[in-house]
Amino acid sequence: MIYSNSRTQSDSSTINQQDNTVFDVEGLKVYYGGFLALLDVYIKIPEKQIIAFIGPSGCGKSTLLRCFNRMNDLIPGAKVEGRLNYRDRNIYDPKINSVKLRRQVGMVFQRPNPFPKSIYENIAFGPRANGYKGNFDQLVEDSLRRAAIWDEVKDKLKEKGTALSGGQQQRLCIARAIAMKPDVLLMDEPCSALDPISSRQVEELCLELKQQYTIIMVTHNMQQASRVADLTAFFNTEIDEHGKRRGKLVEFSPTSQIFNSPQTKEAEDYISGRFG
Ligand SMILES: Nc1ncnc2c1ncn2[C@@H]1O[C@H](COP(=O)(O)OP(=O)(O)O)[C@@H](O)[C@H]1O
Ligand SMILES: [Mg+2]
Repeated sequence: MIYSNSRTQSDSSTINQQDNTVFDVEGLKVYYGGFLALLDVYIKIPEKQIIAFIGPSGCGKSTLLRCFNRMNDLIPGAKVEGRLNYRDRNIYDPKINSVKLRRQVGMVFQRPNPFPKSIYENIAFGPRANGYKGNFDQLVEDSLRRAAIWDEVKDKLKEKGTALSGGQQQRLCIARAIAMKPDVLLMDEPCSALDPISSRQVEELCLELKQQYTIIMVTHNMQQASRVADLTAFFNTEIDEHGKRRGKLVEFSPTSQIFNSPQTKEAEDYISGRFG
């Protein structure tokens, strides 16, 4: 049903199975101005898995997600402390090129945001701006196929991406991210603006894509996390000494464990309340 490509096999055989950690986060703190929004995060993200971030609103899920490709750099007043290694390099090292990093660690947003250009250009624009020298028709087709939307758009590649349905636009945005040949895809509530059928299509797509990419997905939908994620991180808020709510990572476990036998009372209370 969904296109999968034959390179997957050989790509994975060349990866050192001993070290499958993509991100290794140690003592990460994020501030907005003087406000400590996210407290001392320690987490190791393994490759080619789907990781869900869950928890109540304001607990720092989006804040942490944005650290993985330094999107917080774009927010005035945001400050990150601690270590965040991406494949053994600290991405907060000043020598790291954040534009290049964002090609390797792509992002898909809550609201589908195709460029106001043709479907074809939505895919071709980024690679062209980066000096891609290969066959553009092939790249466009390949990216759209991998995002499971080729059959729906192949006869209207010149039409505007913004004219597609919401679910199609989101898959187009995923295709656009894939065209940059990333290693990791960050998704911040990618289905929250979609109807249930489109959401399930995006979920199916993620399950296909994890053969090749590491996916970190924020979701407020517990059922979605339990359907797609291999591992789930539960975040919560606590009251700081000034009476402000700050976010923290409470538990990071295999998804079946966090839903069936969470190791912390906080996760248990949240999950039983949400599924209750
Ligand atoms: N751009 C920002 N400026 C100031 N505070 C922010 C900003 N973005 C998020 N915050 C604050 O940081 C905390 C975590 O927010 P966020 O990461 O968006 O949580 P979540 O995604 O879990 O809902 C919240 O208290 C929020 O108000
Ligand atoms: Mg958020």
